[in-house]
Amino acid sequence: MSDALRTVLAALESDRVLDGPQRLRERIEALDRLDALMPRAGDDALLQHAHTVRQRLEAANALEFEAIRAAIWRGEGRYALGCWRQAAGDDAQCRGDAYDWLDELVGGVLPFAEPDEASPLAPEMVFYQPTPARHVFDLLDRLALTGDDVLVDLGSGLGHVPLLTAICTEACGLGVEIEPAYVASARACAQALRLANAHFALGDAREANFAIGSVFYLYTPFTGTIMRGVLDALRREAVRRVFRVCSFGPCTAVLAAEPWLVGDAAPAADRIAIFRTRA
Ligand SMILES: C[S@@+](CC[C@H](N)C(=O)[O-])C[C@H]1O[C@@H](n2cnc3c(N)ncnc32)[C@H](O)[C@@H]1O
Repeated sequence: MSDALRTVLAALESDRVLDGPQRLRERIEALDRLDALMPRAGDDALLQHAHTVRQRLEAANALEFEAIRAAIWRGEGRYALGCWRQAAGDDAQCRGDAYDWLDELVGGVLPFAEPDEASPLAPEMVFYQPTPARHVFDLLDRLALTGDDVLVDLGSGLGHVPLLTAICTEACGLGVEIEPAYVASARACAQALRLANAHFALGDAREANFAIGSVFYLYTPFTGTIMRGVLDALRREAVRRVFRVCSFGPCTAVLAAEPWLVGDAAPAADRIAIFRTRA
């Protein structure tokens, strides 16, 4: 293991342009490699050397994250994130719910305060887990939202989806979340990024205002009777107007079976599915 760490360190040290702004992805992936190898360094001097290289990479990343946040303050976040989204283009086609370097990038840019401990969830409510960032970007690319759209994330957790919607599009992102600590963190993040088009409502998704969304998103936030109640509320809303409903994870199969929704005949559970209500 120490030989592997030495080889990685030598390669990183010889690559002086690795600190440049275009090399963010490589730095994030190099940090992951160091994280995997450092616990088994077995040598104090080698470990110290690895810490020094690690700090160099983290400092370069912090500068890049700060530059992207500054672009978001200027209302140019979609362009600052755009090049990284394009770099992720092929990955967006990838199946699976694993996290990758793009999640590290989004986590570095979005200034989430560590939320207070979450309360235990009631039966049928699913614990917090964010949608992998490449899927959020894939969703936003496929939705092509305009300034007239309101994307409502039912069970929004820390708010990645509404926040990225507000950063990357003209649309409004609204999160509905039952856990107060997550809502407080999401609101603080929107405020720190000066996003006027990201909002978070504290409450049960069954009591959400279904009249305001043009797109609803569900990353399997609940199951059973809660899911049934929310889908029935959306179906009643669909009698009045057309809108889109998007999903990720196991709940996609539930949505695909709803006769008032039209989408792919056999949507994949590990890529975001987009449905439209029948006119
Ligand atoms: C799988 S996470 C999805 C988080 C977020 N949508 C995302 O993709 O990043 C599910 C979230 O739904 C929330 N949740 C569960 N039941 C809920 C309910 N009845 N009303 C509102 N939020 C709920 C949980 O607290 C959790 O944050």
